[in-house]
Amino acid sequence: MTRIGRSDLDVLPLNLGGNTFGWTSDRDTSFAVLDAFISAGGNFIDTSDSYMASIPGNSGGESETILGQWLTARGGRDDVVLATKVSRHPDFLGLAPDNIAKAAEASLQRLHTDHIDLYYAHYDDPDVPLEDTLGAFDSLVRTGKVRYLGISNYSPERISEWLAICEANGFAKPVALQPHYSLVAREPFESTLRPQAENFDLGVMPYWALASGFLTGKYRTQADVDGAARKRIVDGYFSPEGLAVVDELAVIAAAHDVEIATVALAWTRQQSTVVAPIASARIPGQLDALMASIDLELSDAELRRLDTVSAAVVTN
Ligand SMILES: NC(=O)c1ccc[n+]([C@@H]2O[C@H](COP(=O)([O-])OP(=O)(O)OC[C@H]3O[C@@H](n4cnc5c(N)ncnc54)[C@H](OP(=O)(O)O)[C@@H]3O)[C@@H](O)[C@H]2O)c1
Repeated sequence: MTRIGRSDLDVLPLNLGGNTFGWTSDRDTSFAVLDAFISAGGNFIDTSDSYMASIPGNSGGESETILGQWLTARGGRDDVVLATKVSRHPDFLGLAPDNIAKAAEASLQRLHTDHIDLYYAHYDDPDVPLEDTLGAFDSLVRTGKVRYLGISNYSPERISEWLAICEANGFAKPVALQPHYSLVAREPFESTLRPQAENFDLGVMPYWALASGFLTGKYRTQADVDGAARKRIVDGYFSPEGLAVVDELAVIAAAHDVEIATVALAWTRQQSTVVAPIASARIPGQLDALMASIDLELSDAELRRLDTVSAAVVTN
């Protein structure tokens, strides 16, 4: 187990992503993925109130609803660390105080729980004074509806501002940072956000750690992506430099007799400030490769080889 920042949240270092629930995984398949994750020892689940509002026929909150149904069916709420996010649900856009209070209530109802372990601001809201937003978050912590706070998709400058406001007002400080970070997207995390995680003792949970499937090695030509649910995002990773990363991952994976995805996640987990990479599994069969990353220790030489080949990737 690894601890998130200054919290008392102990997690197995693979954070299961919840954006498949109600999208590429129906309710029964989502339950099967969650059951397999818990059986394999996992305890840390990431979702958002907005997952997956962008899918035709959905209205937002589908992922939380499935998670809540699963928690009710299976029990064991206290055995899992539940992270969700606010600011992008179509009915609760932004981070005005009243909106945060209502969005949190709606998330608690969908999740069938009385508390959220880790509550992220999903995206910055420049139209609301940050002091007002942080006052609302602080109230949620003081009333016990939220245990800890996290930050996702904020600039380094706004993270500094966030911490200064907490200091000045005695507000609950954030313990976690959720940035986009992987072997094919190392910047801007490494240059500008990791220093902030170090400065403010934020545990980092990188999202798109598998580059939406590109770092599993299953897409070798652009034609492989045709028809894939994640095509729009995966398309952006196709370049000779990106494919060279996959080739190097394949060599290291063969040496360890593991999957390419396992090596990609192990590299991410072994980066400084990272607590747990986030990755989702559409079906239970995809989970083994994800969970195996927890026990894979890449050597310094292997980490350097991956550092070198991935340094050539130009981040979009
Ligand atoms: N904070 C934010 O703004 C933000 C943004 C995005 C995501 N997130 C979080 O991060 C999580 C992870 O992101 P993501 O799910 O979009 O992308 P990801 O974890 O990089 O990619 C996961 C996808 O790769 C494929 N995959 C996984 N394991 C595989 C295996 N062993 N073999 C073959 N394919 C495999 C599956 O998709 P297919 O089977 O469909 O190919 C799976 O859904 C999300 O669920 C969410 O919780 C946060």
